[in-house]
This record gives sequence, structure tokens and C-alpha cells, in this order.
Amino acid sequence: MALDLFSLAGPVLARIHDAEDAHRFTLLALKTGLVPAPTIKSDPILEMHVFGLRLANPLGLAAGFDKNGEVPNQMRRFGFGLVEVGSVTPRPQAGNPRPRLFRLAEDRAVINRMGFNNEGHAALAKRLQRRRRQGVLGVNLGANKDSQDPIADYETGIRVFAPLADYLVINISSPNTPGLRDLQGRARLDALLARVLPARDGVGRVPLLLKVAPDLAADDKADIAELALHHGIDGLIVSNTTIARPGLQSRHRGEAGGLSGAPLMAPATAALAEFYRLTQGRMPLVGVGGIASGADAYAKIRAGASVLQLYSALVFAGPALVARILTDLAARLRADGFARVSDAVGTGSS
Ligand SMILES: Cc1cc2nc3c(=O)[nH]c(=O)nc-3n(C[C@H](O)[C@H](O)[C@H](O)COP(=O)(O)O)c2cc1C
Repeated sequence: MALDLFSLAGPVLARIHDAEDAHRFTLLALKTGLVPAPTIKSDPILEMHVFGLRLANPLGLAAGFDKNGEVPNQMRRFGFGLVEVGSVTPRPQAGNPRPRLFRLAEDRAVINRMGFNNEGHAALAKRLQRRRRQGVLGVNLGANKDSQDPIADYETGIRVFAPLADYLVINISSPNTPGLRDLQGRARLDALLARVLPARDGVGRVPLLLKVAPDLAADDKADIAELALHHGIDGLIVSNTTIARPGLQSRHRGEAGGLSGAPLMAPATAALAEFYRLTQGRMPLVGVGGIASGADAYAKIRAGASVLQLYSALVFAGPALVARILTDLAARLRADGFARVSDAVGTGSS
């Protein structure tokens, strides 16, 4: 059984000194079937429709775990309702020098400054073409570090991956590519959306989402919400990792990069609630940042999320966490008298 295997492998992984080596080992184990993923059936109360897609449940794997699309089907079998691969850039890219990934066990957190290491559009497209299509798959698009025209990188990504994905994400919120987050400013974002949405319209109706940072000023959030509604983007993902360092204990707390995991739960949920208020429920929001339990998942839904994603909690709890969260979330919905996820969305907002 996969769950038993992880309880054996988990302590081994935690002892692999370098967090990136542990991650590579995990991907290899999944690819080779060393960790045979069980097939989890999720509760019908969690079934939903969003972005014109049918999801078995609202919980997704966040970008960055499977940057090169090596194990999307294996990850789905742990119970995820959607799996996002990437970020992928047009040309392959090595990323920052190692070490660049740190586990902060005392804080149940991760710091990464990977810098969009990935094998590029062609390699990911080839893998996705060969894959048996099952479940809902998103491709998260990035821009090359040395790109002269980052918006063109997103346009290319849309054209390459529209036929291979169920939804696409414009990621302008990674803190590890210099200048990338400046695309969230009003004028740059207006220019970006004015190009990527027509690019999407040119290749069909694949839903196009925008992924934002948790570290935005109030004015930036208002501008993003207004432009997102004006241009007709399909949804917002709130949020990426934070550059803040809220009250951490671990010896790695001073490392540069983006922080994720438990300390991100409160600030990312606050940003989500703010985007829900600003968009008045007119656009589905994806809540991500610090989810590690059914209570966390439910809190994001009540703050305004229609869809959820996680990554860091898997590092500490293993993939069996997915099924535990789904069971607990279904129980919480029933206990509060909700018949479906969409009925609970935003009910915690004041
Ligand atoms: C090692 C690592 C790599 C990541 N790489 C990406 C990425 O390539 N693109 C992206 O949009 N987000 C990336 N993220 C951010 C996650 O998708 C997610 O937004 C963030 O970690 C918050 O969720 P969590 O607290 O559940 O981890 C990465 C996160 C981690 C920990």
C-alpha cells in the first residue's frame, strides 16, 4: 500500500540532507512506480463545475512540484481534483545555483529560490502529448530570466499548451525571477492582459488564470481585480510564495527566496478574502498558501476560494494528506448544512 510505503519512506526522505535531492528522489519513485499511488474516490459532495470544467473535488496540486510534467497522472491518483504542472519557460533554464530549496521543519514551511529551473516548452509538450489524458490538468507558464519580451513568452506558452491543457496560468508572481513581479503593476498588467487574452482567444476557449503574490499593496490588489474583471481573465490564483518572514524559528529562516507552508496560511487567506471582496464573487478564485488540513481548506473556501491548491504540506505529511483533507472537508460542509462546495464559497467573508 502506498500509504504504508510513505510512512516508511517519509522518515528516509526527511533525512536526505538536501531538500532538492529528496524531491528528485520522490519524483523518481513516483515515475518508476516505487510509490504505487492508490486510486482515491472522492465524496460526491465535493464534485463541482468551475471554469467550464468538471472537477471530482476542489483540491489541486500547486505549481512547482512537477515542473516538467513527469508525474501528473500519478499525483492525481492520490486524490487531487486537479494537477498543475510548470512553471515552464519557452527555453530550458538551469535556475539558480544550489542549494536553493530549504525545509523549515520547525515552522512547517519551505523556502525556495529555484528560479524557474525547467526543461522548457518543447520537453513538457512532448510529455503531455504522450500522456494518457485523465483528470484536470493545468499548465503554469513562466518567462525566461533573460527574455527581452516576457509577455511574448506567455503568448508562446498559450499557443503551445492550449491543446494539451484543461487550463493555463500566467505566473507573474514568482519572487525568484528578477523583475517578474513588476508585471503586476497597473500599466504593465494592462499591457500583459491586452496581449495574452487575444492570444488565448486565437486558440480557443481554454480558461486562462492569473497567479498573484501575497505581498501586494492595497492599491495593487484593487488594480489587479479591476483589470482582471475588465479584460475578462477567467480566474485568479491567490497566492504564490511570500518574500516576508513572519516569526520563523528554523535555522534556514534567513535564506533568500519565497516562503510557503504554514506561515503563509494567514497572509495568503487575507489576500484571498480581499480579492473576493474586490471581485464581488464575479470571478472564481483559487486559494493556495499554507493549506495543511481540512480546517485550512474550509477556511479558504469560506474566505472566497472556489478551488484550492497545496504543495508544501506534502513535504511534511506525505501524499496521504490529500485524502485526509478531502474527507474532513466533506464532513465540515455537511456539518454546516452545505450541499456543495459552491454554496460555502465566501460565506466567511464579512
Ligand atoms: C519548491 C517550490 C517550487 C515552486 N515553484 C513554483 C512555480 O514554478 N510556479 C508557481 O507558480 N509556483 C511555484 N511555487 C509556489 C506554489 O505553487 C504555491 O503557490 C506556494 O508554495 C504556496 O502554497 P503552499 O503553502 O501549499 O506550498 C513553488 C513552491 C515551492 C515550495
